Amino acid sequence: MTARRSGTRRAATARPRVRAVRPPRAKPATPRRVAPVPPGGAATASPMMRAKVTCTDLLAAKRAARKLVMVTAYDHPFARLADAAGVDLLLVGDSLGMVVLGHSSTLPVTMADMLHHARAVARARPRALVVADLPFMSFQVSPRQAVRNAGRMVQEGGVEAVKLEGGTRMLPMVEAIVRADIPVMGHLGLTPQSVHRFGGYRVQGRGEAAGKALLREARALEAAGCFALVLEAIPAELAAAITAALAIPTIGIGAGSACDGQVLVLHDLLGVNTEIKPRFVRRFGDIGRAAQDAIAAFAAAVRAGEFPASEHTYR
Ligand code: KIV
Repeated sequence: MTARRSGTRRAATARPRVRAVRPPRAKPATPRRVAPVPPGGAATASPMMRAKVTCTDLLAAKRAARKLVMVTAYDHPFARLADAAGVDLLLVGDSLGMVVLGHSSTLPVTMADMLHHARAVARARPRALVVADLPFMSFQVSPRQAVRNAGRMVQEGGVEAVKLEGGTRMLPMVEAIVRADIPVMGHLGLTPQSVHRFGGYRVQGRGEAAGKALLREARALEAAGCFALVLEAIPAELAAAITAALAIPTIGIGAGSACDGQVLVLHDLLGVNTEIKPRFVRRFGDIGRAAQDAIAAFAAAVRAGEFPASEHTYR
């Protein structure tokens, strides 16, 4: 079970704004198209040196053995923070259903939900490549439906690529979307939209037959035109074999260290979700605790009559 399936997330609330006094205008953003920086080198590169990441950059990163970094993003402020931290890809994952909308699976997530969040992320105009999930039942019906919804994600959501879950059965959909010139990221292994077929959130691809089947599916997705492939919750050895067999990059989550890149759900790595920590998650921060402490400090200051002080008061 992955942390994002715990259904215990809390959404950030918007800060009320005082309209009477306008803050000074923010300085215009640093121009982005100065010089290309290869994916994987972003975190150490100067912001002045950063150029937009493209799908072809990712292939080059694999050839140069530079690890790719992807995190999920569901809103504007975290898209900006993750981009400033230098990630290569931002994924508007359908995990948003569990992480920020409080559903107990990703199945209720709609195109409307995805577009709403994709637009918020795209408005950050990140340097990172923005990929959005096609949610359950938005592509499975037919190639025509898949192209229509992938097109909406690009035109209305402002993203640069879509991701869809599934292997061989999804090849006609992948091919149709790629023919429409929309880049597709595949997703194999524990594909959460198949939770009922799997009978739960379980590691996939264990055993020789299942491993070989997954390798075949990975090759087929590459042949269908995918530019990258997420491998979720599969044995590390199998992920290594798939990674070695493909020219396109693999991005692992619970798939070991041999993948060409890694992805984590942002709220898991930040420590916003603290109730369940699956084996493959490392908490790189304790933002949940920090947020709760800050809110408690605000409450205490209000109750003690210490806030607002004179410096927070208009005359
Ligand atoms: O929806 C999601 O967040 C994902 C990633 C974890 C790969 O699919």
